[in-house]
Order: sequence, then C-alpha cells, then structure tokens
Amino acid sequence: MLLRAAAFLALAFQAVGAAQVTTQDTGRTLTLGGVSYFVPPSPVSALHDVSALSVAAKSASNGLVPFSVIPTSKFVFDGSALQETVNEWADRDDVWSKAFLTGIYLTYNGTRGLPSASLLSAQKTLGINFVFLSKSYLLGIGLTKELPAGPYFLEPASGNIFEAFRLYNDENQSFVYGTIPDGSGGFQVLSAKIPGAATETVGVPSRLYFTPTIQKPLAGKRLAVKDIYDVKGLHTGCGNRAFWQLYPPKETTAPAIQRLIDGGMVLVGKTKTSQFANGETATGDWVDLHAPYNPRGDGYQDGSSSSTGSGTAMAAYPWLDFAVGSDTGGSMRGPAGANGVFGNRPSHGAVSLDSVMPLSPELDTAGIFSRDAKMWATAGHWWYQNFTSFSQFPKKLLFPVDYFGNSYLTNPPSAGTAADTFNTFITKLEGFLNTTRTEMSLAASWNTTKPAAVSAPSLQTLLSTTYADLITLDQIDLVADPFIADFGAANGGRMPFIDPIPLARWSYGRALPAGRKEDALANKTIFMDWFSSSVVPPDATSCSDSIFLYPQSSGGTNYRNRYISASSAPLGFSSGRISVHAEVPDMVVPIGEAPFNSTITGRTEFLPVTISFVAAKGCDLMLFNLFAALQDAGVIQPVVTGSRMFS
Ligand SMILES: *[C@@H]1O[C@H](CO)[C@@H](O)[C@H](O)[C@H]1NC(C)=O
Ligand SMILES: *[C@@H]1O[C@H](CO)[C@@H](O)[C@H](O)[C@H]1NC(C)=O
Ligand SMILES: *[C@@H]1O[C@H](CO)[C@@H](O)[C@H](O)[C@H]1NC(C)=O
Ligand SMILES: *[C@@H]1O[C@H](CO)[C@@H](O)[C@H](O)[C@H]1NC(C)=O
Ligand SMILES: *[C@@H]1O[C@H](CO)[C@@H](O)[C@H](O)[C@H]1NC(C)=O
Ligand SMILES: *[C@@H]1O[C@H](CO)[C@@H](O)[C@H](O)[C@H]1NC(C)=O
Ligand SMILES: *[C@@H]1O[C@H](CO)[C@@H](O)[C@H](O)[C@H]1NC(C)=O
Repeated sequence: MLLRAAAFLALAFQAVGAAQVTTQDTGRTLTLGGVSYFVPPSPVSALHDVSALSVAAKSASNGLVPFSVIPTSKFVFDGSALQETVNEWADRDDVWSKAFLTGIYLTYNGTRGLPSASLLSAQKTLGINFVFLSKSYLLGIGLTKELPAGPYFLEPASGNIFEAFRLYNDENQSFVYGTIPDGSGGFQVLSAKIPGAATETVGVPSRLYFTPTIQKPLAGKRLAVKDIYDVKGLHTGCGNRAFWQLYPPKETTAPAIQRLIDGGMVLVGKTKTSQFANGETATGDWVDLHAPYNPRGDGYQDGSSSSTGSGTAMAAYPWLDFAVGSDTGGSMRGPAGANGVFGNRPSHGAVSLDSVMPLSPELDTAGIFSRDAKMWATAGHWWYQNFTSFSQFPKKLLFPVDYFGNSYLTNPPSAGTAADTFNTFITKLEGFLNTTRTEMSLAASWNTTKPAAVSAPSLQTLLSTTYADLITLDQIDLVADPFIADFGAANGGRMPFIDPIPLARWSYGRALPAGRKEDALANKTIFMDWFSSSVVPPDATSCSDSIFLYPQSSGGTNYRNRYISASSAPLGFSSGRISVHAEVPDMVVPIGEAPFNSTITGRTEFLPVTISFVAAKGCDLMLFNLFAALQDAGVIQPVVTGSRMFS
C-alpha cells in the first residue's frame, strides 16, 4: 500500500514537472530599523564585479544589504562632508535612515584619487561597514548604471541593486491601493503589505532619487490619483466593485495624469471616489466602499465628496505631496473645505479629460490638492500650461453678503467665530492688494443687471435643475447605460449593484422629458455670459477685473455617524454652483479653524475654515501667483496633517 502511494506520488510529481511552472517575483517586503520597506522585483543597477565586494559587505546581511549612494562634487570628500550629507538627508527624506549606512557607494563627477583618512575615521564613527567607489575613483569598481543619491539594497549573491520604497499604512482608508511603476510606462498594484496592518499599504520612493529641473519641476513629488482617471496597467474602479471587476486594466494613462508624471511626479496610489463621482455622505451612501476618514477635529467628520480619498489623504499623510481629484459640482472644493487643504476647481477645459470617467463633460474639471500654496502654484503652472500667467492682481474684491451674511463692516463678527476668521483674513487681503472690499449681493445684482430677454426672476429659477439635469442625462448616456449593458452581457442579464445616490440620480434623469439638456445648456450659457459681463469680467492687466470671495467651509460639523435623508437629485442653486455654470476657476484656501464641542470625544475640537476665490475664466495662474505671493507675505500659511491644521 505504502509503496503504491509512493509510486503514485512520484508519477504526480513527474506530471507537474512536465508542465511549464513559472514563478513571478513580485518584490520583497522587509523591515529595517523598525521600518517596513518594499524592494521591487527589478534591479536598477548592479555591481560591475561582484567578486570585488569585500567580505564585510558580503557578510553584512545574508539577504539584502542596505547602503547609500552618495554623489559628491567635492574634490575632498572628508569626514565632515559625510556628516553633513547624513544630517541633510535625515531632514529631507523619510525613506533614507542611518540604517542605510551599512555601506556607502561614493560617486564623484570628476576624476580623483582615494578618499581621505578623515572619511575613513568618520566611517568608523557612523558604523559604516564598507565603502566602495565609482569608476571615477582610482580603484573604483563601479556600477553597470550610475545611480542618483539615496538609499538602496544590494543583493551580494548577484551584485544586483534595488531601490527602496518605504511602506506606510493607509490609516484613514483613503486609498483603493498603492502603486509602483511597472517598468514599461505603466503601473502595477503594490504587492507589499506592512506585517500586521489592517488597512492598505502605500509605498513611496526616496525623495533623494529626484532633483527638480526645468523639464521636470515636480521631480519626486508623490502623487495620489482619484480612481476615475485611467492609468496604464490599472483598473479604473469609479467607486463601484462591479465596474472594477468587469473591465480589464487600462492600456493608456489619461493625458492629464501623464502630464503630471512627465513633470516628474511619482504616482503612489489610487484614491477612493464616491461612486461614479456623485456626491455621497459617509453613513448610508457609501455602500460599495467604506468612506475614507477625515483626520481633522475628532476624526469622525464626513470628508465630503466626491474626491474624498484624495482630500482625506492630503490632510492625513505627510508623506504625500499632491492628490488629484475632479470637480463637477464641488467634488474638489467640498473635500478641500472639509479636510482643510488647498484644492481647486480650474476653469472649464483647463486640461484634457480624455480617459477620465465623465459625470458631465460640459461641467467636469480636473483639480489638485496641496498643503502648501507655493507647491500648489508650481503644480498649477505645470498642469494648466495653456493659460497665461498674470503677475498683476485685481484691485477689486467682491464680498457677497448673500453668502457671507450681513455686512461685516457694520456688524463686525465676534472674536473666535468663523465669521471673524473670514473678516480678519479679508482685512489682511485688502492690505496686501491695497484695496477695500466691495460689498454686493449676487442675487440683487441679478435683479438689476440680468439680460432683458431673460424672464427668470431669480438665479434659483434659472438654475435650480440645470446641474442635476446635465449630470444625470450625460452620465446615463456615457457611463450608466454602457456599463449596465456590458455587465448584463457578461452576467446573464443581471444588473450590477449601484449605490443609492447614483441610482437615484440616474432614475431622476431617466424620467426627464425630452429637450431638457438643451434647456439646461441654454440656462447655463445665460448665467455664464451674465457672470462674465456683469459680475467678474476679464481684465487686460490682471486677467480678472475682480476676485469674488465666498465661504467654503465654516468649521461646521457633519458627523459621519449621523443618518441623513433619503437620496435625491442635487437640485437648487448655491454659491458652489457659480463656477460650475460660469466655467471659472474657484480655488479653496484654508485660513483658520473653528472650535466645536465634539459629541464623539466629549472635548473641544477644531474644524477647518476655508474661503473660495473666484476669478474670470482662464485666470487660474493669476490666482496661483497670488496665493504664492500671499504665502510669502505670511497672509496664508501651509497646513500640516492630522487633527489640527497649523503647527
Ligand atoms: C559636478 O557637480 C557640481 C555640482 O552639481 C557641478 O557644479 C560641476 O560642474 C560638476 N562637474 C562635472 C565635471 O560634471
Ligand atoms: C487618520 O490619520 C491620522 C494621521 O494623520 C491618524 O492619527 C488617525 O488615527 C487616522 N484616523 C483614523 C480614523 O484612522
Ligand atoms: C495645451 O497645450 C498643449 C501643447 O500645445 C496641447 O498639446 C494640449 O492639447 C493643450 N491642452 C488643452 C487642454 O487644450
Ligand atoms: C501696495 O502698496 C505698496 C506701497 O505703496 C506697494 O509696495 C505694493 O507693491 C502694493 N501691492 C500691490 C499688490 O499692488
Ligand atoms: C430679486 O427679485 C425677486 C423678484 O422680484 C425678489 O423676490 C427678490 O427678493 C429680489 N432679490 C434681491 C436680493 O433683491
Ligand atoms: C431654465 O430657466 C427657466 C427660467 O428662465 C426655467 O423655467 C427652466 O426650468 C430652466 N430649465 C433648466 C433645464 O434649467
Ligand atoms: C462647549 O461647551 C461648553 C460647555 O457647555 C460651552 O461653554 C462652550 O461655549 C462650548 N464651545 C463651543 C465651541 O461650542
């Protein structure tokens, strides 16, 4: 019996052996100095001569040996130069650490002799096991490809050298997944997981690998992208599980994202979107995905939508520099306001939206979040390259009392309130622009300056259904119907699961009478033309005649454990719809915090106060320049991550 079993096993083995068995290296995860790292499967370089490795190098570890590539232009790279490098790197990079000083590889961009004795003694002090030298040194062994500065792993057995990615937990559940480049212009899902982590893992490459240039001004900036933009090699999920599963990974990257990658940004992951970029609120609406966590205040406030994951990630993770979202009816501005970060809706048509899931092409725009106005401006200039950059600023500040409330000039708000924060900020802005605000009312302006031929007595009458009509009619045609048909064809006629909000909106759209889209577009055009002729006209020297301000977030609560009303179509007109219909830029700037008594923590917590800047169409770069100048002047400050916005 035993014998027969053994014979059978041998046969089975043979059968398996006959088939082609291939394994695929998906990279390695390891910890170093208590920190988790990912080592990608493909090496970036190799030693010319493995046998030249010293015994110390070979025995430094039985697996991978962490080491640092240190380029220098100093003729004498001595002990103090090494110490200086180490100190600077510790400040500048979160991936590199002293644990990468097991060895150093010194590259010199000229030709020179051996390192000095003082370097060798510093080497001892820092615990460096081995130093090896590039070909530019006498006795240098060199690499098959020279490498930029930073931390690497050496595999002594093969001489292969790998990059180091530091791994972070997605504690706020902002990401769909982390990504790494696939080596052929696309990306793949990061296979690593921090041991014991309950959430997704995101990997970031060392900042030291990258040096910004004119061609790549954003080199090494870490970018997260809302999961409605196609990226080569990855699925586009749009917040719907069935949609994610149905369609294969994309073969091209959306040009808007490619432009950022071409500018040097490093894509580190895809972020969660509320479903099909429709507005959803945490409790109830987010059925397919769990709503990301807004880290501000008590950590249990809604992060707004639809660019939720991009907004919460920026507010939570210091290791992330930028996140892309989109704005059709407020999907950038809502999250920027709720999470207290910079975020913009650009002028309509600012960048191509090819290979991006549409809500309504007439209204869709691509925006970017940042925590720093100057970095934001750099990204904006690169991305919105087709606009003209104006460095003169408007002298007119429009202060709509219908959105700020009563005149602050006659009724100064009481100290510590959000209204006081707005007032104080606008006073500083007046000082910076050498101007004073012009109090006005948008509703009253409509009454006095609306086109004679238009009967609509108010903006509410003109625009109450315009947005809802356009987004539902467009998305039914462009997304819902093709998706439902494709899913049915692949699944015996079944319907895919769809979250309550998009489902309710599409039902609303399906019930609309014929001709509504044309009607809606006509009303939108009436408003756009009126806004640019009578409210914020263009200007030859400052791009925009004025800046129209309105409150974006006022420190109000929106608890994520609060049950909300049943889903319905997004009807009505409000401040947030101005830029949507007028096609103008609307940029959100964090300016302060307001206290509240949290029902979650039972303590006083703080939530973001943010303000929107609206200018004429195409004046995005003027606004970016203004914010950079305001940050230089100390009128606005960068924000930090976590519960509180300012350090
Ligand atoms: C070496 O690098 C330094 C600093 O980057 C630069 O000023 C110098 O011109 C470079 N020298 C050579 C020979 O490339
Ligand atoms: C969100 O991220 C912050 C780090 O910024 C962390 O302290 C906090 O615990 C996270 N919140 C949740 C609910 O995981
Ligand atoms: C902006 O300009 C570039 C370069 O001329 C062009 O390729 C691109 O299509 C333009 N983008 C848009 C959105 O018009
Ligand atoms: C405001 O006036 C001051 C002093 O006259 C001047 O230095 C500054 O450039 C002006 N600022 C702007 C934005 O015009
Ligand atoms: C504008 O006119 C309408 C209709 O006459 C009126 O109901 C409304 O109060 C007016 N609004 C303002 C702000 O003047
Ligand atoms: C367009 O505006 C008119 C008022 O002028 C209004 O009655 C109508 O409902 C609007 N239609 C849409 C689709 O916005
Ligand atoms: C918080 O509650 C205390 C006690 O009821 C109250 O005095 C305080 O004004 C409240 N603070 C805020 C910001 O609402």
